[in-house]
Amino acid sequence: MIASSSELLLAQEVTQLRIALHEHNYRYYVLDEASISDAEYDALLRHLAELESASGDVIPSDSPTQTVGAPISQAFVAREHGEPLLSLANAFSDSEVLAFDQRIRDVLDDTIADVKVEYIVEPKIDGLAVNLRYEYGVLVTAATRGDGRVGEDVTDNVRSISDIPWRLNRSDNMPDVLEVRGEVYMSKASFQQLNDVQATRGEKLFANPRNAAAGSLRQLDAKVSASRKLSFFAYGVGLGGSDWVDSQSALFEKLKRLGFAVQDYVTYAHIDDILNYYHDFIEKRAQLSYEVDGLVYKLNAFALQDELGFVARSPRWAIAHKFPAEEVQTTVEKIIWQVGRTGAVTPVAVMRAVAVAGVMVSRATLHNINELARKDVREGDDVIIRRAGDVIPEVVRVVNDTRQHRSASVQVPKTCPECDSIIVREADEAAIRCSGGLACPAQLKERLSHFVSRQAMDMDGLGDILIERLVDEGLLHSPADLYELDVDALSGWEGIGSKKINNLKQVIEASKTRSLPHFLYALGIRHVGQATARALAETFGTCERLMQADDVALLAVPDVGVEVAASILAFFVEPHNLDVLKRLYDSGVNPEPVQITEFDASHPLVGKTVVLTGTFRSVKRSDAQQKLRLLGAKVVGSVSKKTDYVIAGAQAGSKLEKANALNVSVVDETQLCAWLDLIGSDIDVG
Ligand code: IVH
Repeated sequence: MIASSSELLLAQEVTQLRIALHEHNYRYYVLDEASISDAEYDALLRHLAELESASGDVIPSDSPTQTVGAPISQAFVAREHGEPLLSLANAFSDSEVLAFDQRIRDVLDDTIADVKVEYIVEPKIDGLAVNLRYEYGVLVTAATRGDGRVGEDVTDNVRSISDIPWRLNRSDNMPDVLEVRGEVYMSKASFQQLNDVQATRGEKLFANPRNAAAGSLRQLDAKVSASRKLSFFAYGVGLGGSDWVDSQSALFEKLKRLGFAVQDYVTYAHIDDILNYYHDFIEKRAQLSYEVDGLVYKLNAFALQDELGFVARSPRWAIAHKFPAEEVQTTVEKIIWQVGRTGAVTPVAVMRAVAVAGVMVSRATLHNINELARKDVREGDDVIIRRAGDVIPEVVRVVNDTRQHRSASVQVPKTCPECDSIIVREADEAAIRCSGGLACPAQLKERLSHFVSRQAMDMDGLGDILIERLVDEGLLHSPADLYELDVDALSGWEGIGSKKINNLKQVIEASKTRSLPHFLYALGIRHVGQATARALAETFGTCERLMQADDVALLAVPDVGVEVAASILAFFVEPHNLDVLKRLYDSGVNPEPVQITEFDASHPLVGKTVVLTGTFRSVKRSDAQQKLRLLGAKVVGSVSKKTDYVIAGAQAGSKLEKANALNVSVVDETQLCAWLDLIGSDIDVG
């Protein structure tokens, strides 16, 4: 059915009212500045409600009539782009760019006589793509790129970006619906400022301006977006664009007149000129106030772009010529060891501060001890460092050092620089780790939030924010301190009233008798997850017995291999951990023991080494394994002369052959069932 003109007018008025009210909401809730009086606002809202009900159309859930009093955008709404947002193919070398040019000329020579190719060259901004939809010259929605077809609505988050006009002057045959595409980014200066603020607040630092821009744009609270200084460059058009302009350079001029920020650009007819420009630009790149990761070359004329079309999700008429990661020389002043939140101890080079890709850098990771040895970085060395994309700065290599006296190679520490606990290295792992899990300040917050979590000691109400504050105030140094905490003294802290205090006392008290599997899991022993904690508890019954277990006893536990056993042993020999455990017990922590199945010492499998192979009808292989272990057998994976029995099910293969070759006793499923006492109960005779 065709809509009548009065229906169209009504729909237009409804849209305009929604936009106007949305803008007022934004000013009121995000900017804290009312743009009209309450009475005027109410009148507009009432008028919109009347028109919506008169139109009889379905009212969208984000209409201001449906969200009154709400501080807008509670979650990101999906927005379909009018035309998909595509990506660019990359070129990393001059020859790839020459090939790009050749492909274009081949296609155009075939189709158009006397064609004049002209390219436009623009920097490739390192930010995130946003699609702005203008209806009748008014910004209606802004959406992230998403999967290219549908993005997330970030309209209120971009309103604070001064490079994005809310309204466009509708001269110049502007289409009713126009999509303007561009890149939201954070300048180097704003990035540095933001990270300074984050550092003083003790909050996470952003790795680079792009992450900072993405994190700031994708904020559910538009107030936070507004407080971060974001910028925008327009570089393209979607829906409506091709009816409006006929070339990229004409587009830039129009966008500029409308109030958009656009980058400086150049045009060239010859690819050689472009390559010269590229190599000069690399030198000047650091002078830009924002980060760029390449240059984009586009055919300037839209008619020629149409001629070339697309391949997969990128246009054939454009390419991104990426820059190599910027490398800078500096001097290593010191090599220190940094302990991460999970206990990994990493070598870090502390260097004379230098600017790399516009950001001051004074520390660079040396990754791990293998990398450190391979690059042989020493204190006093001149080194080349780089920051590539997301990666934190790294030392690339030592500059060929001809000095007579280089300092000695760095010694790998034996104890943790934070807590003095023993450092352990797992076989086949490059990382070294602090074993003082319960006592190491670097790991403290992470450990505590694990300790109190629901699957561990279940102290509901002791959230990360409170833990953070307790640690920062010096009230928590280890989980044992939780039980000596003067909870009443927290009264008056933000969000802590008498109800919360009682609740905290209750959950702390209740945790003292948590069951053993929960307690073992809470200790945060590396590689001991919930299932292993349960298996350990079921095997040893009490924490004391687990602490006395040697490697043979540990290896007999289901799911415990060499790595897990070593980690448990390391945990329980570390004096700092033992000290915390003692304090936990002294405070009344007394995990509820688990009833364990005692071995039947007369069972024929006690102390025997067995191997399971093939499939069984009456029992799952993993269950059989566990049951055999509970009977006192040692279940291993491969057959050797030391194997006492190979238990072979159907389709047994090489292990059975090996058993026969080594003369190891082989038994079948019937014998397995007899040993496990399954006969007559579970056996599937069908
Ligand atoms: S044009 C159809 N121009 O790079 C091509 N993109 O990998 C549309 N980008 O998603 C993109 N600066 O987010 C274009 N001057 C520029 C750009 C640019 C940055 C981003 C954009 C795009 C990605 C492609």
